[in-house]
Amino acid sequence: MATMESLIGLVNRIQRACTVLGDHGGEGMSLWEALPSVAVVGGQSSGKSSVLESVVGRDFLPRGSGIVTRRPLVLQLHKTEGGQEYAEFLHAPKRRLTDFAAVRKEIQDETDRITGRSKQISNIPIHLSIYSPNVVNLTVIDLPGLTKVAVEGQPESIVEDIENMVRSYVEKPNCIILAISPANQDIATSDAIKLAREVDPSGERTFGVLTKLDLMDKGTNALDVLEGRSYRLQHPWVGIVNRSQADINKNVDMIAARRKEREYFETSPEYGHMAHKMGSEYLAKLLSKHLETVIRQRIPSIIALINKTIDELNAELDRIGRPIAVDSGAQLYTILEMCRAFDRVFKEHLD
Ligand code: GDP
Ligand code: NA
Ligand code: MG
Repeated sequence: MATMESLIGLVNRIQRACTVLGDHGGEGMSLWEALPSVAVVGGQSSGKSSVLESVVGRDFLPRGSGIVTRRPLVLQLHKTEGGQEYAEFLHAPKRRLTDFAAVRKEIQDETDRITGRSKQISNIPIHLSIYSPNVVNLTVIDLPGLTKVAVEGQPESIVEDIENMVRSYVEKPNCIILAISPANQDIATSDAIKLAREVDPSGERTFGVLTKLDLMDKGTNALDVLEGRSYRLQHPWVGIVNRSQADINKNVDMIAARRKEREYFETSPEYGHMAHKMGSEYLAKLLSKHLETVIRQRIPSIIALINKTIDELNAELDRIGRPIAVDSGAQLYTILEMCRAFDRVFKEHLD
């Protein structure tokens, strides 16, 4: 009997297979859409990319003030048993990157390749996989920040374009929403909460994350938000202290940043009593646990979908004839074999 950990790993592999081979889910919900993932939503510079980096435990995302994230980044984290950590882009398969500064540069270059060195955005996602013994198995999506106004060099429609792009991810019922709000702004004005409330009114798939606790005005605190009195969600709110821009400029590393964050909560007069339920590491664990629960609930419908895919692929292969050489038929055949293998493993998990 495989563990839950490997079950999420399996789901990651299916998502990847669907991406690599093209989605053969047929009509209705595709296999890709049936599988849960986590999307990061929030206003520009609210700390989305920083939170993702903390969850992953590595420095590799472009961060900073202004519009930095300009294409969706679909990031699959694969927990490995050991060995060296490496990253691989779908657009450059078989090139294993072990230098995470090079990963950041490639995200920037690949963004520019589509949008130019502009402040424009693009809907076309960048797919990145990270293989590491130090991550939890998760698929996370970094998204451009919601804005209120277009800036110089952006079309007027950008505000709406970004909102529509973000909505297209978070409106999917299988999307777990990481709604990022900065603590130094009134929660009533949070773009993340506004959109999350719209697509997930019951709050069952929204995780409220409050960043920049260290930047709040002296004499104020975020207990009303963190204890769920300001805006109630079904999951607990998690407070975060990411690296400041000064920390980034000084190259403060991830380990030092996490230690600083932990110290912040443990020594805080306001949040000390809830320190064990605050911070990036706790958020990563909470997310992974939730993802497992969701996947377990979905196993029967995923099996049904895989079987439907098998039937469709068989019908398609009957129509075009069984493959003899490397052509589109052979590719369909590969997917079919993969679906059968997944079906067997998923059924084991039902026992
Ligand atoms: P994004 O635009 O939402 O992806 O936000 P980024 O992660 O790029 O962060 C924007 C800026 O805010 C960067 O300069 C970060 O260093 C800073 N920042 C993010 N979170 C925090 C935090 O918790 N505390 C402090 N002091 N700065 C933060
Ligand atoms: Na930013
Ligand atoms: Mg960002």
